[in-house]
Amino acid sequence: MQKIEHCCDVSYYLQTALEEGYRHIDGAWNYGNEAEVGQAISESGVPRKEIWLTSKLWNSFHAPQDVEPALDESLSRLRTDYLDLYLIHWPVAFRNGEKENEVDWELTENPYPTWKRLEEMVDKGKVRNIGISNFDIRRIQNLTANPLKIKPYVNQVELNYWNPQPELLNWCKDNGILLEAYSPLGGADRVRETLAIPEVQDIAKELGITPAQVYISWHVQRGTVALPKSVTPSRIKENFQVTALPDEAFQKLEKAATSHRPSKNVDPSKGWGVDIWGWIEFDEDMGNVM
Ligand SMILES: NC(=O)c1ccc[n+]([C@@H]2O[C@H](COP(=O)([O-])OP(=O)(O)OC[C@H]3O[C@@H](n4cnc5c(N)ncnc54)[C@H](OP(=O)(O)O)[C@@H]3O)[C@@H](O)[C@H]2O)c1
Repeated sequence: MQKIEHCCDVSYYLQTALEEGYRHIDGAWNYGNEAEVGQAISESGVPRKEIWLTSKLWNSFHAPQDVEPALDESLSRLRTDYLDLYLIHWPVAFRNGEKENEVDWELTENPYPTWKRLEEMVDKGKVRNIGISNFDIRRIQNLTANPLKIKPYVNQVELNYWNPQPELLNWCKDNGILLEAYSPLGGADRVRETLAIPEVQDIAKELGITPAQVYISWHVQRGTVALPKSVTPSRIKENFQVTALPDEAFQKLEKAATSHRPSKNVDPSKGWGVDIWGWIEFDEDMGNVM
């Protein structure tokens, strides 16, 4: 593997992660870095078939005629001819017009026309698995009430100490949908506070591991796929070490996480004017983050 010299670009972080043994890359059209990701993968020397590559369909491309061109753009930037997983990024459709973020209410309330196109992309071999992101139980049921040929394989949602979503987790387990945990360490704005939670500090000391490793192990033990993000090589290495938590430690953290009022790190509801999760009240502290 030829070492990329620049220490501060996506290629560098990705190369560090691939060298460490990571094989799961969670991307999205909207992250705006698929070209760099594609370059890093192709220069890494790691065979494409060893990598699990995810991308996400952005809100502006939910109209059936926009799905395949958006996917083709991601494939071309990623320098590949298939994705392992393609997700509907948000349960919110924008009109693909001149007005920014203009909501298409019909397609937002019934995303089946979008889903049918994703099924066709599987038939064409451009995508191996399809799923959703940021869907709550009501929105999943709303989608799966349609005559789907392929049911959602994955739902990628925020899962962390602040927003552990035990009800969604159990419901998805019962219904055969794998949950992926984004912002698993609480996200950039709350990671320090998250790592300082006393229960986690205690477990980390007891097991001789770091608080981040406690959280990542907890996510895995809950039956979810953890998606930690770091641009720090030592943390990229740290986050790859997963430990089997003793049952007592696991239950202690589960109890701590589920015993306070949940709050979201990522919630564009107010900015988009869509009550994405049917939360009756908007928390004034929440930003418009994606
Ligand atoms: N589907 C969606 O809508 C959606 C939304 C948000 C995120 N995501 C996905 O989820 C991934 C992760 O989410 P995220 O970045 O919001 O949250 P996160 O992984 O919980 O937190 C990232 C923050 O934690 C820090 N960090 C990472 N490992 C650490 C460690 N061992 N010790 C101390 N600090 C550590 C990082 O700092 P440094 O980078 O400085 O090391 C960064 O500031 C994203 O990359 C994306 O793929 C998906």
